[in-house]
Amino acid sequence: MSSDPALRARKKGTETQPKAGAGKANASTSSIVKARDRPSSNGNGGWSSTSLLVCLAVIACTAGFVSWQTGYIDRLLTVKKKEWTPLPGYGEDAVVDFSADVPKRQAVVDAFKHAWLAYERDALGADEYHPISHKGTNLSEAGGIGYTIVDSIDTMQIMGLEEEYARARLWVEEKLDFERDGRFNTFELEFRYLSMLTDEEEYWRKAEQVMKMIKGAHLTTGLASIFMNPEDGRFVLSAIRLGSRGDSYYEYLLKQYIQTNMTEPVYQAMYDDAMNGVQAHLISKSYKAGLTYTSELIPERNSQGEISWRLAPKQDHLVCFFGGSLMLGAVTTGAVSFPVSVPPKPHELTEQGKRDWNVGRGRELVETCVKTHDTATGLSPEIVHFRISGDGLDGTLAPDDWYIKGARQGEAPPYDARYILRYASPPTLHLPNLSSFIAFRLTGDVRYRQQGWAIFQAIEKHCRVETGGYASVLNVDDVPVELEDKMETFLMSETLKYLYLLFDDASTLPLSEYVFNTEAHPFPIFHPTLRTGFS
Ligand SMILES: *[C@@H]1O[C@H](CO)[C@@H](O)[C@H](O)[C@H]1NC(C)=O
Ligand SMILES: *[C@@H]1O[C@H](CO)[C@@H](O)[C@H](O)[C@H]1NC(C)=O
Ligand SMILES: *[C@@H]1O[C@H](CO)[C@@H](O)[C@H](O)[C@H]1NC(C)=O
Repeated sequence: MSSDPALRARKKGTETQPKAGAGKANASTSSIVKARDRPSSNGNGGWSSTSLLVCLAVIACTAGFVSWQTGYIDRLLTVKKKEWTPLPGYGEDAVVDFSADVPKRQAVVDAFKHAWLAYERDALGADEYHPISHKGTNLSEAGGIGYTIVDSIDTMQIMGLEEEYARARLWVEEKLDFERDGRFNTFELEFRYLSMLTDEEEYWRKAEQVMKMIKGAHLTTGLASIFMNPEDGRFVLSAIRLGSRGDSYYEYLLKQYIQTNMTEPVYQAMYDDAMNGVQAHLISKSYKAGLTYTSELIPERNSQGEISWRLAPKQDHLVCFFGGSLMLGAVTTGAVSFPVSVPPKPHELTEQGKRDWNVGRGRELVETCVKTHDTATGLSPEIVHFRISGDGLDGTLAPDDWYIKGARQGEAPPYDARYILRYASPPTLHLPNLSSFIAFRLTGDVRYRQQGWAIFQAIEKHCRVETGGYASVLNVDDVPVELEDKMETFLMSETLKYLYLLFDDASTLPLSEYVFNTEAHPFPIFHPTLRTGFS
């Protein structure tokens, strides 16, 4: 499991499959489930010594944290408190306009149909679609589970595409078959809603048990490493980051709290704890322009075997979800009372709420993500690195603030340079993302629509395959672009859905009644009938 998780996990849609028709998985929680599912017959023999090692690692890691904290913390906490700054034109008496932008919304629907009809024509039933070769492939040799169909069907409903929806629904009714042997990742959140729908407590309890174990393994900072040992419930010494494998953990601390209508204080406590850790340890400012970004903490062992934590200035496109997530947290866990204004006024938020909303980079992170779209194509790369002092880059040739690591003129583009039709990361193209959608709904600031539209146009220009479908771009800094023959399922389930909602009337799926899971599927907020089993 530890072999290059970064590379494997980053492709949010590709290593994951739906469970019970709804979710996909990635990030930390899924790795827990996957590991737990390991058959005991082949796992038990090696575990005791492994557990011991892991225990030692955790102790060492904790010790490392303490020494790291004393050494570096002051330097990291360079971010100064800022005054509350209302958005331009959005003062105390702002009137925000949430009516639909019908032509742009229609353009997004047309794009969805361009993607869906090609898949339906060439590959209906297959998990994934390859728009250039006009072929479908499956994630498991045992056969497909209609991954693309299951993932896209709620977008059709939201967009009002009744004919497409009816055909997709018929496929689900007649052909969908989960009798496949294979490894499937799951998300505990969805489990809680499954319990609500089926009246079976078991799913709820299982999901809750995972959260309880994570809480019990608590690191002093409130943060979580991306791997845990399923046998002893402790963290394995591994990176701490908001990017791949870590992203959904932080997102779901908040969303679990919102999902049950803010009635389970334990999730609020875990979220607040984690956000304090993020603010103290992971938020950094770029060198020249002062862009706010999030770093990763990488454990390193010296020749004496001592562990220290290195702060790596590397941000996955995935992290772009986080700006919106912070803003959502600010108006929920950080609200003095409900509901707050749009945009919220300073006296409506607690100190932590204000920090996360304003000082706390909700908006600043989103702005940074927008800046990473500043490439030849207007698409954001999969991973960006930020300049830090002592990074050894040539001052005359190197960019001021951020760069794509390993990119050299005239050579094959590195993995980091691609744009894979993602929605989440703010930097480039993905944008019609959760962050822009949430930021628009919470502020009414039309700039988010403008940015979303710019990103949509970049997708149309560079990723559209004329014969049908959309393909990933191999290097966002190279025009004309070279395409990879793959259309990730999250184009239809996430990117185009968030774009549609961005241009739609705000009464569609209001944030006071729905919470979006990490794959953009809306779940109704409900009042829980079960009591939280831990605190
Ligand atoms: C993928 O799986 C589906 C459903 O089992 C099957 O109909 C289809 O032939 C498979 N496609 C390929 C390329 O194996
Ligand atoms: C998400 O949308 C926001 C708001 O438009 C934008 O600033 C940010 O760059 C986008 N992020 C991603 C992930 O594309
Ligand atoms: C959530 O809580 C609020 C305030 O207590 C209440 O008005 C609302 O009806 C609740 N929503 C649900 C779905 O239970």
